[in-house]
Amino acid sequence: MKIPSSIWTLLIGIVLTLASLWYGQNHGLLPTAASDEAVLVDGLFNSMMTVSVGIFLIVEGVLIYSVFKYRRRAGDNEDGPPVEGNVPLEILWTAIPAIIVIGISVYSFDVYNEIGGFDPHAVHEAPINQSSMNMPGAAFAQRAGTALAATLTDTPPSNAPNLNQEKSDEAMQDSATAAVRNADQIPQLRNAPGVGSVAPTLGSSPDKAGQPASLAVNVTGLQYAWIFTYPETGITTGELHVPIGREVQINMTANDVIHAFWVPEFRLKQDAIPGRQSEIRFTPNKVGDYALICAELCGPYHGAMRSQVVVESQENFDKWMQEQLVASHETLNQAVAVNPANLTPDEFLAPYTKEMGIQPEILHQVHK
Ligand code: CUA
Repeated sequence: MKIPSSIWTLLIGIVLTLASLWYGQNHGLLPTAASDEAVLVDGLFNSMMTVSVGIFLIVEGVLIYSVFKYRRRAGDNEDGPPVEGNVPLEILWTAIPAIIVIGISVYSFDVYNEIGGFDPHAVHEAPINQSSMNMPGAAFAQRAGTALAATLTDTPPSNAPNLNQEKSDEAMQDSATAAVRNADQIPQLRNAPGVGSVAPTLGSSPDKAGQPASLAVNVTGLQYAWIFTYPETGITTGELHVPIGREVQINMTANDVIHAFWVPEFRLKQDAIPGRQSEIRFTPNKVGDYALICAELCGPYHGAMRSQVVVESQENFDKWMQEQLVASHETLNQAVAVNPANLTPDEFLAPYTKEMGIQPEILHQVHK
């Protein structure tokens, strides 16, 4: 009995679909999902993986099948049959990818929106001034919308409040943050367009409204370290500790060059830019230690610019915070105790030079 080709197509289609769906959910390529936002990103990634596996299997399957089925047989020296175009087929294989790509882009914009990428307060309506209308390309800029126009034309200084500056001032009210960020060295730029390569705010999910206030942490990126300050308690650390289940709001900037705050387990990444406040919010939902990685090439030691995010229970977090408070007071007291009076450098260094076997006279000569 000969099975008709339509049945074969149907069977192969079912097997391919099942295989793609299974692999899309079981690829095991992503690390643990440790934040509420991660679920959204994983959903998008898994969908794209499902589609990709389907296309991969179809393309490779047809290729391998054809290589065997239509290979040159012994004694066959003819040309292949001349195959002309097939309009319906070409329409079909143009339309299918177009639909897939549009579907994925709508889905990814939706995820971006869910995690706060299009936060309305971040969008800056840049006025298009008259002179820009006469510039070549102005019509294009106009069509492309205000976001692009803002980058193409010189907007005159406006009286509108600079949200970016306001946010920066807010963060600088914490003295620990001000000490870490080289105060008033880099003026805050005008508000950035909200839709672009970098959205100033990421992760403020609308469904978080009405929940306990988020924990604010000010983060400063510098070559080659991350420094965290907690405005609630005024402590400064090199490691980010956050309690589980509470939204964390990271206000970041950079002192020198662009860095990027990236925690793969949270599935979120945000640039830390000199002269601009950026924000990222997430709700950690799994206890553990995660690597915080700088994801922007920022210099020769970029690869070493890592830190740790410790997600812990509220009690452990409170305990850690207490320890930090005690430690910061102790360092302060020690610093005061070490140099009680105005010692000269020689007197101050005496205990150390003795330890190292250096004669005070030599040290004195070095000084002069
Ligand atoms: Cu900082 Cu790479």
